[in-house]
Amino acid sequence: MTISTTTSNLFQPIKLGNIVLKHRVAMAPLTRFRADDAHVPTDLAKTYYEQRASDGGLIITEATFISELAGHYPNVPGIYTADQIEGWKKITKAVHDKGGHIFMQLWFLGRADAIPSVSASAIPIPAEEGKEPKVPRALETSELPGIVDMYRQAAVNAVEAGFDGVEIHGANGYLLDQFLQSNTNHRTDEYGGSAENRSRLVLEVIDAVSSAIGQERTSIRFSPYSHFQDMHDANPHETWSTVTQAIQDRFPKLAYLHFVEARVNGNVDRNDVANSETLEPFHNIWKGVFLRAGGFTLESAVTAANQHENDVLVFGRMFISNPDLPLRLKNGWELTNYNRNTFYNNKSADGYIDYPFYETAKM
Ligand SMILES: Cc1cc2nc3c(=O)[nH]c(=O)nc-3n(C[C@H](O)[C@H](O)[C@H](O)COP(=O)(O)O)c2cc1C
Repeated sequence: MTISTTTSNLFQPIKLGNIVLKHRVAMAPLTRFRADDAHVPTDLAKTYYEQRASDGGLIITEATFISELAGHYPNVPGIYTADQIEGWKKITKAVHDKGGHIFMQLWFLGRADAIPSVSASAIPIPAEEGKEPKVPRALETSELPGIVDMYRQAAVNAVEAGFDGVEIHGANGYLLDQFLQSNTNHRTDEYGGSAENRSRLVLEVIDAVSSAIGQERTSIRFSPYSHFQDMHDANPHETWSTVTQAIQDRFPKLAYLHFVEARVNGNVDRNDVANSETLEPFHNIWKGVFLRAGGFTLESAVTAANQHENDVLVFGRMFISNPDLPLRLKNGWELTNYNRNTFYNNKSADGYIDYPFYETAKM
């Protein structure tokens, strides 16, 4: 089948917050563990993002620690020291010099951390056989304003580093998702119980961030159907309809809402998706720009973009192995397959900045 990209919405402009995208093929947040030991992004990261920038395109960075307390994974970048801000400045400049746009994804791990951490409740991710689970400490109600303030400060730092905006990581089983979902939030204060209460911390973070840097520079990501990190909400339609409606009512000018499709669990495909696991209930509530991620191909992205005129389609794994992905999709050029072994495992350029551009490969 030949797909016409010239008439597809996928290659039509769309306004997102204060910026105008020239096409709707966005790069997903992708953790790559290539920062230095002080969580500073290196010149390799500059090359990586510069390669993937396109004129009028949108990049969302890998998840980035908002404070020293937000996570203890090695070689994940942060946005809480002066050196980290300087490191990111080189990256935002390189992307902007190519006409691209870049949002930073803000991360607090919670119970998924490498060392026992904090969460909504003292409920661990089940451990592998023979290992002890890392039981998190339930955050005190009085500690939550401090957490909210970390997101605000990180957003201010991101703007100082030249980012066009931030994406709050509310997906994939990390701290904010642990507050949202019923299986990880058994709190008895006003942050637990009803969907409205479980949404409270997310809404406070959005409020603090958007008050500091503007709604137009603020966004959030959710993954209602993902079971990655042992997440299982009892009623996803209710939970994410509640939080989406609250965002629509209180923060209608957010740059975008970003949802992960049910067919992906974190970074792998899922084959047992039920018909009810659709993003439509949330899409129907949110009137602004809607980002969708998860298993998109050129065919499915063209279809989705043509069905919904406010959608931007987000590609993860294919952007790792195709630095010029928007151009390849537009021209129907062959895609390079990714190598999962080099997604995360080292600080070298292997599998990071060495995937070929189509036109160079053909020479
Ligand atoms: C190597 C890798 C790292 C990822 N890191 C993040 C991340 O930092 N933050 C996030 O929200 N999702 C992360 N994801 C999920 C992707 O953003 C995306 O939702 C997922 O890969 C599905 O899209 P795809 O089918 O186009 O790859 C990661 C996925 C992969 C493969």
